[in-house]
Order: sequence, then C-alpha cells, then structure tokens
Amino acid sequence: MSYQKQAIAPHGGELVNRIATPAQKEEFLSKANYLPRVQLDERAVSDLEMIAIGGFSPLTGFLNQADYNSVVENMRLESGAAWSIPVTLSVSEEVAAPLTEGSYIRLDNREGKYIGVLLLTEKYTYNKEREAIKVYRTDDEKHPGVKVLYSQDPVHLAGDVWLLERNAHPLFPKYQIDPAASRQMFLEKGWRTIVGFQTRNPIHRAHEYIQKCAMETVDGLFLHPLVGATKEDDIPADVRMRCYEILLENHYPKDRVILAINPAAMRYAGPREAIFHALIRKNYGCTHFIVGRDHAGVGDYYGTYDAQYIFDEFKPGELGITPMMFEHAFYCLRTKQMATTKTSPSTQEERVHLSGTKVREMLRRGELPPPEFSRPEVAAELARAMQVPVNA
Ligand code: ADX
Repeated sequence: MSYQKQAIAPHGGELVNRIATPAQKEEFLSKANYLPRVQLDERAVSDLEMIAIGGFSPLTGFLNQADYNSVVENMRLESGAAWSIPVTLSVSEEVAAPLTEGSYIRLDNREGKYIGVLLLTEKYTYNKEREAIKVYRTDDEKHPGVKVLYSQDPVHLAGDVWLLERNAHPLFPKYQIDPAASRQMFLEKGWRTIVGFQTRNPIHRAHEYIQKCAMETVDGLFLHPLVGATKEDDIPADVRMRCYEILLENHYPKDRVILAINPAAMRYAGPREAIFHALIRKNYGCTHFIVGRDHAGVGDYYGTYDAQYIFDEFKPGELGITPMMFEHAFYCLRTKQMATTKTSPSTQEERVHLSGTKVREMLRRGELPPPEFSRPEVAAELARAMQVPVNA
C-alpha cells in the first residue's frame, strides 16, 4: 500500500495486518481441537490485538530473544528500528515444555475463548531484574509495571501471530477506530498535521490547555485515551470516556477532534512508555504527539520531564513522529487563565494544580475539584460515577 498521500508512514514503513483472512480463519478453526493451547492474560490479549491491527507496527508477533535483548538494552529492534517496550508472551515452564518450535499454538483469552494463533519460533528465559532496571528504571516491586513484570511466568514464547477476528469493543464500539481507519479519516478530512494525545486519567483543565495549545498549530487532534488494563485505583475507562464526551460537546470544535480508544495496556514505564506511546500514535497516522509533565509516570519514580529528555536519545527521523513538549500546566490565579511557568509570572501559591490522587481523595470525601482544576460538568460526572454525595 502507498502511504504517500497520507501525512506519515507507519513505523517501519508498512501497516501490519495480522487479522486472519476468512480462509486462514477457517483453517485455524478446523484445527481448534488439535492445537496446543496457551491462555493469555488481559495484557497479552491487548498486545495480540494491538499487533493484529497494526498499532504496534512493525511488530508481527511477540518478540524473539534477539529483539527482546535489543529492545531492553538499546531501545531498538534488531533491525535498528526504534522500539522501547518489550512486547512478550510469558508462560510457565510446564506450559512451555511440550510446545515445539515451528508449531502452531492456539491462543485463548481468560474465558477460554479461542481468539488467535501463534506460530512458535522460539522459547527463551529472561532476566526480570534487568528488564525492570532498564525499562522501568527501578526494581521496586511496588511500581505497578514492575509488579506485573515480577508476576509474569518465566518463559517467553516468540513468533508471528494472527487474530482470528476483529470484534467490536464491548463498551466503545463507536470509538474503536483502528489505525487503517484513522489514517483514512485523516486523509478524508484533509488533515496534514495531526497531534495525538495519550491519557489514562479523567480530563482536567491542564489536559485541555495543552491539547488546545497544540491544536493552534496543527490541523486536527486525535484524542486517544488508553482503555486497556490500568492499575486498580485509576478511574475506569467508561467514566473517563463519558468525561471526554461531555467536554467535547461543549468546549471543542467538532470538526477538529477525533475521539478514539487506544486498546493498549498501561505499563507506567514513564520515559520508555512515552516513546512507545508516540510510536503507537504514528501508526494511527499522527504526525505529532503531546508529551507533558511526567508522561506515563507513577508515584515519584521519574523526574517531571524525563519522558521529554528521552526523545534526545533518538536521532532526528528515527521516530518519525514529532513530540510536542509541554511544561507543567496550572491555573494561574494572578492572570486568571491556564498557564505554565513559560507564560505566567505567578508564585507557587498562585498556581492551582492537583494530582490525580488528590482529586480521588476529594471525590471520596464528597468534595468536587475546583473549577480552576476541572470543568464543573466533568467534576459532576466523576462524582456521579464514584457515587459520592456532593457537598454543596
Ligand atoms: S498518562 O499516564 O497517560 O501520561 P495523564 O492522562 O494524566 O497520564 O496525562 C496525559 C498527558 O497529559 C501526558 O502527556 C501528561 O504528561 C500530560 N499532563 C497531565 N497533566 C499535566 C499538567 N498538569 N501539565 C502538563 N502536562 C500534563
């Protein structure tokens, strides 16, 4: 396929499509009862889906050992293409033992439904501590990404995959816009510059501010909340999506924003994940990507702008997509508008900014976050979703 008319080519040059053709599906289904089975957890299901729809292009399957080592150590695949997060499938030694390289393996979801196939090319063990230090920059088991890594099974299965069929998302079918479709939409709208926005939190005014600053200079905004697995205490995706709908209705021009879901799982890998998030949005057709304060961070594991500095570790053109960096934004009580230290002369006391944790605590106490932090209609929706009686 030619991507010349499109604003940007996918990472690696071609949009990967690993959704089984009708003939392949029929063949795989006919083998359903003979193939060895592996059960995928929620993240692996989401990774399979992301590979299949091209969101993880150029990956065509779960990483082999050479690619895995290269990604962990150098943030690049063996081919040299930039890639910052290992996408792997882990199983126990008992499950791995009877599986032979070169054979097809049936992939089931957690409910035991047959959803995909792996052509096994390699089985290998890996060093979790090394991956933790290199990818997450910490081996603290309390880090949610490291916690998942340490709970993984010890053997990786590598090889190309197929998704048996692309089902509609159970909650957000309307917003399930896969990379081929988003690219087509951008083309139809005549957008030449598109900025992607990653988020896992309910939208607040700092988000809105940096999105709109970016929108001043590009043709369109691709609002792309992550709806794959997040940590327990993050606000659920359906609530976040409702907040977006409410805000878009009243505060954004309809023809300059596309809201779509990102089915990927959250890793909380901060800087490394910022690169990963940017490459995913490149595959969806974005030319630009917003990186604000502590992007994909959690707790105090990363410096406020580490996720911006990491872009310097790539040569111009290696990523293809252009990051748009933003400083920590807040509401400035002195100038009475959203700002950053780049645009406001305020003192610390004159800046209204709240952490997600603080907002959740306020909501639990029945208090609404102030309008300087969150648009009132969004705050009301959060309170409703958390079923807290709101103090007048
Ligand atoms: S993230 O884990 O998806 O990065 P979140 O949804 O909070 O978390 O952030 C989405 C994007 O907005 C990220 O690029 C983040 O850096 C940016 N961001 C969040 N809050 C602020 C803020 N107050 N100022 C500047 N950027 C911010």
